[in-house]
Amino acid sequence: MPIYSISHVENVRVCVVMVGLPARGKSLIAQKIVRYLSWLSIKSKCFNVGNYRRLIATDSPITAEFFDPQNQDGLEVRQEAVDRAIQDMMKWFSDENGVVGILDATNSTRERRQAILRLCRENLIEPIFLESWCNDYELILQNIADVKTTSPDYQNKDLDFATQDFLQRIKYYEQYYETMDVSTDPDLTFIKLVNVNSQIILNRIESYLESRIVYYVMNLHIKPRSIWLSRHGESEYNLTGQIGGDANLSERGWRYAKKLPDLVLKSLGEENKHTNLTVWTSTLKRTQQTASFLPYNRKLQWKALDELDAGECDGMTYEEIEQKFPDDFKARDDNKYEYRYRGGESYRDIVIRLEPIIMELERQENILIITHQAVLRCLYAYFMNVPQEESPWMSIPLHTLIKLEPRAYLTLVSRIKADIPAVSTYKEKGTSQLGEQKDGNYLKSRDLINDSEMHKLENQAK
Ligand SMILES: *[C@@H]1O[C@H](CO)[C@@H](O)[C@H](O)[C@H]1NC(C)=O
Ligand SMILES: *[C@@H]1O[C@H](CO)[C@@H](O)[C@H](O)[C@H]1NC(C)=O
Ligand SMILES: *[C@@H]1O[C@H](CO)[C@@H](O)[C@H](O)[C@H]1NC(C)=O
Ligand SMILES: *[C@@H]1O[C@H](CO)[C@@H](O)[C@H](O)[C@H]1NC(C)=O
Repeated sequence: MPIYSISHVENVRVCVVMVGLPARGKSLIAQKIVRYLSWLSIKSKCFNVGNYRRLIATDSPITAEFFDPQNQDGLEVRQEAVDRAIQDMMKWFSDENGVVGILDATNSTRERRQAILRLCRENLIEPIFLESWCNDYELILQNIADVKTTSPDYQNKDLDFATQDFLQRIKYYEQYYETMDVSTDPDLTFIKLVNVNSQIILNRIESYLESRIVYYVMNLHIKPRSIWLSRHGESEYNLTGQIGGDANLSERGWRYAKKLPDLVLKSLGEENKHTNLTVWTSTLKRTQQTASFLPYNRKLQWKALDELDAGECDGMTYEEIEQKFPDDFKARDDNKYEYRYRGGESYRDIVIRLEPIIMELERQENILIITHQAVLRCLYAYFMNVPQEESPWMSIPLHTLIKLEPRAYLTLVSRIKADIPAVSTYKEKGTSQLGEQKDGNYLKSRDLINDSEMHKLENQAK
């Protein structure tokens, strides 16, 4: 797999047009693509026609009748919503140098698809249609359950009512829906997902960026699952404030390792206590030692999960780095995401080597990952959509187990602290001192331990 380079996509602009009946997981797929591409520093944005529709038709509550093809008012509102979404997307491409825009609508007839195709071609944008086709009734019901609990259309509505109403809405759409097909749409670039990924049909995928998107959606599944993240236990280097190296756990680090199986059981809960997790660690001793008491027999080591390589600074303390390489020390604080240690790595480098890990994570079910601070920050940023300038400053404490549960419109986060003290290994901006200042003038970290902050992130993910 080639390493991602921004120059590859410099002059390419892609519009992903979602196609499919309601409750086929289109919005979920659209959001995931945006999150993935943004994580790779490719400017992407989703334009959801449903949101525009809700902005226009504010007065009446929306029920299925609104989507009846005989309902003239409904048709007008929906047309206006699509027009506005497309207008905003085109403006975003030209004014903000957008690279991948996603039009999240139903685009159910061939005629409508032709219209957007013309518009893209006029504006030198590559259109790629992404259809989610599904006749698995159970999957559809599962999607409806997700939609009706999270969609603004069904706020404060009875669950049965919401389900019935939604099924009726789908019926209206089915009346004129035309699926994509190689025989009828031979010239279009499209991906057709049949029942999520039991079959995938590709047609005329041309550019590199398109093929990246294809590869990503091919790896998605929608089975419910959880991902656990933990840093290794406190290491001997952490006691002395040194970075890098391949140190053993400290005495308190070993205590965390012994307690970890209990924390995992607690997090699984009584009914899931027999869940068979797969454990991933890096190739460094401290992560393997941390995993050594876990009772699961699938344990994999990944070189890609190794800690950020500090190059010439490996084995030094932050104070030593500040003294020996004062300019580097400052440069790193000024742009921690891009800064690359002499002979070592930057956060951006880590994201590139983590890409295969993300792909594999999307394919897997329940996984526990034991890795290092910088790597965890990058993984966490992917799941929680944390912007690059912030992710290197997030505080991820030692001796804490984090659980992520990806859902349709958000990722739930919970964490369990092992009651085992550890030194703080968090370095704030502009100082070589470790530990978080509660009242300093430094840029505050996003504290993983803070619930209200989490809440904000979840809302953003919607
Ligand atoms: C996309 O789908 C929406 C909803 O069916 C439709 O109203 C719109 O016209 C389509 N877009 C274009 C440009 O045809
Ligand atoms: C903790 O120690 C490990 C070495 O054992 C090191 O790689 C890591 O950077 C340390 N964490 C911090 C932030 O000091
Ligand atoms: C780590 O522990 C092992 C086994 O106890 C020991 O042989 C080794 O010397 C230790 N390494 C360091 C760097 O202290
Ligand atoms: C977990 O899965 C592995 C590999 O599939 C299997 O060998 C092992 O027996 C399972 N353990 C439990 C506790 O089910």
